[in-house]
Amino acid sequence: MLKLVIIGGGSSYTPEIIEGMIDRHDQFPVTEIALVDIEKGKQKLDVISRLAKRMVKKSGKDITITASLDRRKALKHADFVTSQIRVGGLKAREKDERIPLSYGALGQETNGAGGIFKALRTIPILLEVSKDMAELCPNAWLINFTNPAGMVTEALLKYGSHKRVIGVCNIPFNMRTGVAEILGCQTEDVEIEFIGLNHFVFGRRVLVKGVDYTSIVIERLKDPSNQYSPANIVSEGWSSTFLSSFMMLPNPYHSYYFKGAEMLEKSLKEYWENGTRAEVVQQVEEELFKKYDDKELTEKPTELEKRGGAFYSDAACNVMTSIYTNKGDIQTVNVQNNGTISDLPNDAVIETNAVMGAEGPRPISIGALPLSIRGIIQLMKNMEELVIEAAVKGDRERLYQALVINPLVREETLANDLMEELLEAHKEDLPQF
Ligand code: NAD
Ligand code: G6P
Ligand code: MN
Repeated sequence: MLKLVIIGGGSSYTPEIIEGMIDRHDQFPVTEIALVDIEKGKQKLDVISRLAKRMVKKSGKDITITASLDRRKALKHADFVTSQIRVGGLKAREKDERIPLSYGALGQETNGAGGIFKALRTIPILLEVSKDMAELCPNAWLINFTNPAGMVTEALLKYGSHKRVIGVCNIPFNMRTGVAEILGCQTEDVEIEFIGLNHFVFGRRVLVKGVDYTSIVIERLKDPSNQYSPANIVSEGWSSTFLSSFMMLPNPYHSYYFKGAEMLEKSLKEYWENGTRAEVVQQVEEELFKKYDDKELTEKPTELEKRGGAFYSDAACNVMTSIYTNKGDIQTVNVQNNGTISDLPNDAVIETNAVMGAEGPRPISIGALPLSIRGIIQLMKNMEELVIEAAVKGDRERLYQALVINPLVREETLANDLMEELLEAHKEDLPQF
């Protein structure tokens, strides 16, 4: 028996995990996939569970799909659990995106004031999941995708009862795929030395079969068409000056910090033309769910690539497979620092390369951060620590401080205005305040 529980099973991304599990079934012979959701997500859960059953049937694999609203029951006997929930749904995300923009402040679901409020809504709920897991499946691994994945994972490792937690994001995986395309080689052969935080990670070195390709990749990235960007980020890429000077691969989210004026202009234009990203995603979801409900459909449709998180399941499925088979390969995950980066606290969660085996991730030592990015990474981590304390303790002072030091807010009066308006807008989902 090998049981996987997917919390937030009604997510439109779930068919990706199902596909990933089918494709890896020889190495990871999962016997049951239990989808869990809440009352509000029941309709989506039903559509997804029917599609998952058709996908499994077509594959001929021996996997049982179950769907329920009873998380505690589903968690019994779980070996692996993935979390992909959205507290307050896309309506809450709409507020996270619209309210800061109405003040001319940048951000999106994981960055700026919106990202902070997503953390405040989410962390208490996942701490409950952690409590359930410690009691009902103490040996299971929790693979967390729920955003903001870095902060959520840190909160779980600091304050949760269950410590087998790994945070995952599709960006490092997709950056590797992007580099493989640029170089015309296989993704498996590309190793990028990642340093930093979730959605604030840099690629310091690129190796292909052990040979250093960093300067070649940096040179080719000067052509914007070679620069990877997920569907949710509109960016025109990096200048040659920036790339040559920092000599690292930035990730697409860095645009919000280092190309702020341009990103604000684009985000406002996008907002006036199409509404917030949350509204665009609601339309994409509607089309996707119509497709998913087609009885003839037996595989993941390509339209899922309109979502920014496309291919996220590869990262999750690879982590689970390597733990199960004690593979010992290198994967990029969010884990507790514990000295990996000497300039950050031990209990800070970082996004880094780790050897993945039966005992979980073993981060590969980095040492000191490069001088060029040391300060900004320490600042971002400091901001995240304040948000986590605010989320767990319902501490308004910590929340205000986090907003003031966040580079996408940074103004004391703006921080206060945003705090008051977002606290009011989200009050139903923020019982701790
Ligand atoms: P979604 O709105 O479809 O939500 C997923 C499901 O979670 C919904 O069916 C919802 O009903 C359910 N849900 C909400 N609260 C729940 C709870 N307490 N228990 C169980 N289920 C609950 O969202 P989505 O766009 O599919 O994204 C899901 C999550 O994954 C978000 O937090 C998103 O930011 C994150 N995400 C992360 C990455 C990454 O790179 N880490 C990539 C893609 C998505
Ligand atoms: C990604 C990120 C995710 C993010 C998502 C947004 O690339 O890594 O963490 O949540 O895209 O995509 P969406 O389609 O929901 O805007
Ligand atoms: Mn991500």
